[in-house]
Amino acid sequence: MGRAVSIRIAPSLLSADFSHLASEVREVEAAGADLLHLDIMDGCFVPNLTFGPPLVASLAPECSIPLDAHLMVNNPDALIPALAAAGVARTAVHAEACPHLHRTLDAIRSNGMSPGVAINPATPLVFALEAVPWADFILVMSVNPGFGGQAFIEESLSRIERLRAATHDPNLDITVDGGVTSGRVPSLVAAGATTLVAGSAIFGAHDRRRAIRELRQAARQGEDT
Ligand code: DX5
Ligand code: ZN
Repeated sequence: MGRAVSIRIAPSLLSADFSHLASEVREVEAAGADLLHLDIMDGCFVPNLTFGPPLVASLAPECSIPLDAHLMVNNPDALIPALAAAGVARTAVHAEACPHLHRTLDAIRSNGMSPGVAINPATPLVFALEAVPWADFILVMSVNPGFGGQAFIEESLSRIERLRAATHDPNLDITVDGGVTSGRVPSLVAAGATTLVAGSAIFGAHDRRRAIRELRQAARQGEDT
């Protein structure tokens, strides 16, 4: 299958050791990560709380790979200017949380970031597809958002396949997030995923360099199918 986008690996900071964030970030960057995935949770849209723009701004100087914010919050609009000021490169908002999705995506872009639409495992694909004209990427949740280390929901694979077939745009990045392991990566990439978010598969590994290398090798296998 011809691809206009190369596969990128995005470690999710949610599974890092929060008492040593700066060194965790430096380690995955040195280990070959392409993006740093930042899970921002408000305790309302999802039943968990993480961190917000001040922490992102503190970490940004430790990191030279692009920052990838995933907003699991009910009011993402309120965070957009501060995330842009913190140096975030791209930001995904949940379609389920945005009654004015076009306006929110537009605000992300006009603040200088690349906009994306995230959808939960049971959200109809059309919620993302309708927003493709204003988004650079779709983030397909393959677990229910809120926690790292959950099991991949099997149906997510065919959702990615159907999304890829429906977009007709080889440049559209499809990001998969949740339960991604090297064993799953070949089929995810073959289905059309181009960015792989992995939390526990990378930060949970003793050797992060090896974990990223295995994910990348698995991605190549998927590209060859
Ligand atoms: C879940 C987050 C994910 C999570 C992935 O709500 O959006 O980014 O950290 O972690 P793993 O890879 O462990 O499922
Ligand atoms: Zn995420």
